[in-house]
Amino acid sequence: MEIIREIPAMKAWVRAVRKRGETICLVPTMGYLHEGHLGLMRMGGPLADHLVISIFVNPTQFGAGEDLATYPRDLPRDTELAGSVGVECIFYPGAGAMYPPGYCTYVEVEDITEGLCGASRPGHFRGVATVVAKLFNIVEPDVAIFGEKDYQQLAVLRKMVEDLNMNVQVLAHPTVREEDGLAMSSRNKYLSAEQRKNALVLSRALLQARRRVERGERSAEALKAEAVRMIEQTPESTVDYVEIVDPVLLRPVERIEGRAVMALAVRVGATRLIDNMTLETS
Ligand code: PAJ
Repeated sequence: MEIIREIPAMKAWVRAVRKRGETICLVPTMGYLHEGHLGLMRMGGPLADHLVISIFVNPTQFGAGEDLATYPRDLPRDTELAGSVGVECIFYPGAGAMYPPGYCTYVEVEDITEGLCGASRPGHFRGVATVVAKLFNIVEPDVAIFGEKDYQQLAVLRKMVEDLNMNVQVLAHPTVREEDGLAMSSRNKYLSAEQRKNALVLSRALLQARRRVERGERSAEALKAEAVRMIEQTPESTVDYVEIVDPVLLRPVERIEGRAVMALAVRVGATRLIDNMTLETS
């Protein structure tokens, strides 16, 4: 396993690969890897000659008062896990290299960043789009894989690649869940045993909505109200948002017709968790 910390060294590695006419798959991460991340890597392995991941806790996507300083980190463990799924190279830059003094260029994806997480985390997607654009320029992947767990992030990055004519194919991996339904997340580590139980309300509220749709409910308002009620009845849990949107532009829908995505963010204790599921009429 190669761990490359410097941008020029990463670019040299990429140049050598490109010279041989070989392809690269990139899985960007912030580390503290779990089965969700590993699923993306397993998917990526067969898609290119080289599987690269990045581990970078990107300061520009964290707001003031968010968990940048306490975000969990464990490079030795991450290296072992990544190696076990065939990752060949970890790009592990420092914040000073990615954002040197005087840094002043950012990527703004408009419109689809306004609702959902964009509303409660202003500037978040500007940071995500900027760092992913930089990673694409440094690693020059043919394919990049992102998780549906962060549905809005995936939609924003697809739009960025389309609008800026980037030469990379963005692929999505379904959300990987714990056995009881909780979506895997590095932030689950913050939860106490009690909060871990309460956090199940996210997937339960989504599954309940899915069942309601299967039984004929079409009103987004009714589905959202029911989810909010479930969350508010759960100890230590407060709703950040519950929304039902169209799957591409993420505009709120009033009725479920065809495919829609129900997305929610819930604070369990001090930890903000997100999840989403597709709602589909047959
Ligand atoms: P991070 O939260 O580390 O996630 C890295 C990738 O793993 C993202 O594409 C995310 O959607 C995916 N992922 C996380 N948990 C998942 C789960 N339970 N199932 C499926 N996929 C999952 O997302 C980021 O980092 C950052 O914003 C990043 C894109 C790296 C930019 O800094």
